[in-house]
Amino acid sequence: MRVESLELSNFRNYAALRFEPPEGACILVGPNAQGKSNVLEALALLALGKSFRAVRESDLIRFDAPLASVSARVRTRAGGATAGCVITRAGDGARKRFLRNGRSVRYGDFLGSITAVTFVPADLALVTGPASLRRRLLNAALSQLDRSYYHDLSAYVKLIEQKNAFLKSPDAGDRTLLTTYNAQIGQTGARLIGARTNYLRKLAHDARTAHARWVGGHDELEVRYLPSPPQEAQTPDAIRAALDDALARAAPGEIARRMALVGPHRDDIGLNLHGRSLARYGSQGQQRTAVLALKAAEYSLAYASAGEAPLLLLDDVLSELDEQRRHAFLASLAGFEQAFITATHLSDVALDTPHRVIRVQAGELIGDARHAIGA
Ligand SMILES: Nc1ncnc2c1ncn2[C@@H]1O[C@H](COP(=O)(O)OP(=O)(O)O)[C@@H](O)[C@H]1O
Ligand SMILES: [Mg+2]
Repeated sequence: MRVESLELSNFRNYAALRFEPPEGACILVGPNAQGKSNVLEALALLALGKSFRAVRESDLIRFDAPLASVSARVRTRAGGATAGCVITRAGDGARKRFLRNGRSVRYGDFLGSITAVTFVPADLALVTGPASLRRRLLNAALSQLDRSYYHDLSAYVKLIEQKNAFLKSPDAGDRTLLTTYNAQIGQTGARLIGARTNYLRKLAHDARTAHARWVGGHDELEVRYLPSPPQEAQTPDAIRAALDDALARAAPGEIARRMALVGPHRDDIGLNLHGRSLARYGSQGQQRTAVLALKAAEYSLAYASAGEAPLLLLDDVLSELDEQRRHAFLASLAGFEQAFITATHLSDVALDTPHRVIRVQAGELIGDARHAIGA
């Protein structure tokens, strides 16, 4: 798919922007704090429904403005469409509204308007960093592929918040209420585990294949789903039964520690090389290659699922890679239709694919970009 035009109004440091990005690779270059990542963040907002940075949504609205809007005209195999998001200040926070072809729609019906794979420097810690990073990869990928996953995830997150609040309350000893929470958590959580089991089976395959191509079959990359509770079940009923059983057994510990200790909010992905933990024993180079293999696999699954290339959003990440890895990684994304790549120096990117350079300065796109900007 490709974005034919992007319009921002009071989004971050953009007062007003209309941008017609080129096909292929588009490099946004400029010093720090000019608004390069903000453009990628706007595109990610349309794909993921939220920022790729951990931020408060009201932060997305330009200082002192009452509301921000982001809208894009996209072309997919299915035809043309517009997708938009309006964020309005509301109390201490913000309210979001999604639009498709100019009409307000529920987020569930908006999802999938744009699909994107993002890759930011924080992802480089996918192997060594906290499990939350690896769950985030799963959630971003699966929410875009499968609306029902997104609904289940939102419901599950709320249930865990409610259960945690309950466990911290004076009523925490009320086993009947805990059983009620657990029944709902078991039902929704089992669907998440089922979706993650299926996705990880494919992700593991594609990551292993990409990895083997790069390292010549010496080190075999193993990607394994580590659900909470640990289980090998494959069918929905068996997954549900294992989760229900673990929730019941965890109850005394959860009451004592006053928090929800079991369920897919505690899931992880295990990454091994030759059967040994990459996080513990891998060299930095091995860890990095594994991260690239995971990202390449995420991309290929998004591609296969949509039947066309997702947008690629690479925020300051190519400059973190040595030349060999950068080439291997980009070559593995064969056929990308449109990529947005940020860098502080053009030399950091060193792409050999055709690309267009756009200079970003204080919330404006300038210079070489002139012919790419529709104003
Ligand atoms: N809500 C906002 N309103 C106005 N400016 C903002 C807002 N949020 C961030 N900024 C500004 O955006 C700039 C950072 O943009 P960013 O795209 O992250 O920079 P970079 O070019 O380094 O990627 C900073 O100058 C910051 O002050
Ligand atoms: Mg940036």
